Amino acid sequence: MSENSPSSEYFSDVAGLFNPESLPEHVAIIMDGNGRWAQNRGKQRVEGHKAGADTMRTILKACGQWGIKYLTVYAFSTENWKRPQAEVDALMLLLETYLQSEADELEREGVRLATIGDISKLPRRTRDSLASVKARLNNGTGVTLTLALNYGGRDEIIRAVRSLAGAVLSGELAVVDISEELLAGKLDTAGVPDPDLLIRTAGEMRLSNFMLWQVSYSEFYSTAVCWPDFDRREFALALGEYQKRTRKFGDLAK
Ligand code: FPP
Repeated sequence: MSENSPSSEYFSDVAGLFNPESLPEHVAIIMDGNGRWAQNRGKQRVEGHKAGADTMRTILKACGQWGIKYLTVYAFSTENWKRPQAEVDALMLLLETYLQSEADELEREGVRLATIGDISKLPRRTRDSLASVKARLNNGTGVTLTLALNYGGRDEIIRAVRSLAGAVLSGELAVVDISEELLAGKLDTAGVPDPDLLIRTAGEMRLSNFMLWQVSYSEFYSTAVCWPDFDRREFALALGEYQKRTRKFGDLAK
C-alpha cells in the first residue's frame, strides 16, 4: 500500500471527509485568530502565536501524509510591523525557535523550506536561522513549505515591476513583450504553481494583501475557527468543500 493510498492509516481519522484522489496541489493559508484564541482563554497574545505554530506543524504534516505538494502560510505581513515591538520580537523569536527545534524532523519528512516577502528587513538572527534551515532542507522531495515573511502582495508586485522596468531601461526587454508569464516569473513565487485553495481562519473575509496576483483563480474557504483550533479534521473539511467547487477559470462549466 502506498503512503497516500486512501486506505492508509494517514486517512483513517478523516475518512469520508474528502477524496484522497483529487487533492489540491497548493494550499495557501491566512492563519488568523491567534490573538482572539488567546484572549478567549485569558492568555497573553503570544500564547496564541505559540499554539498557532503547533497548528502549522500539524497542517504541514497532514500535507505530507495526504500528498499536498505546496503549503504557503502568511506568517508575518508588511503591515505586522505596526504591532507592539514586544509582539513583533516574540514572533521573530518563535520563528527562530520553531526552525531550530523542527529542523531534524522536517528533514526526515523531506520538507523543503522557502520564503516569500522581503526578508532582508528581518532581524539578522532570524535571517541566519532561515538561511541555515533552508540550506539543510534543500534536497527535500516532499512538501514545499513557504513562509510569507515581511510579505505584502502589493510590495511583491512593485518589486517585480521595478525589475521589469530595469530590464526595459537597459534595453533587454521591449515594453510590448511584457506578459503575465514574465511578470509572474519576477514574483517571489516564481516557479511555484498558483494556490488551488486559499483558506482563511477566524471568520474574516479579506485577502489582507496576501498573494494578490497568485490567488486570481484560487477557491476561497473561510471558517470561523481560530487558527490554533484548526486541526486535521478542520483541514479535511476545507478540502472536502474545495472538492465540491467547479473550477471554471472564466470558461463555462464542462
Ligand atoms: C494572525 O493572528 C497571526 C499572525 C499575524 C501571525 C501568524 C503566526 C503564527 C501562526 C505563528 C507561527 C509562525 C511561525 C512561522 C513559527 P492575529 O494575531 O492577527 O489574531 P487576532 O486577529 O485574533 O488578533
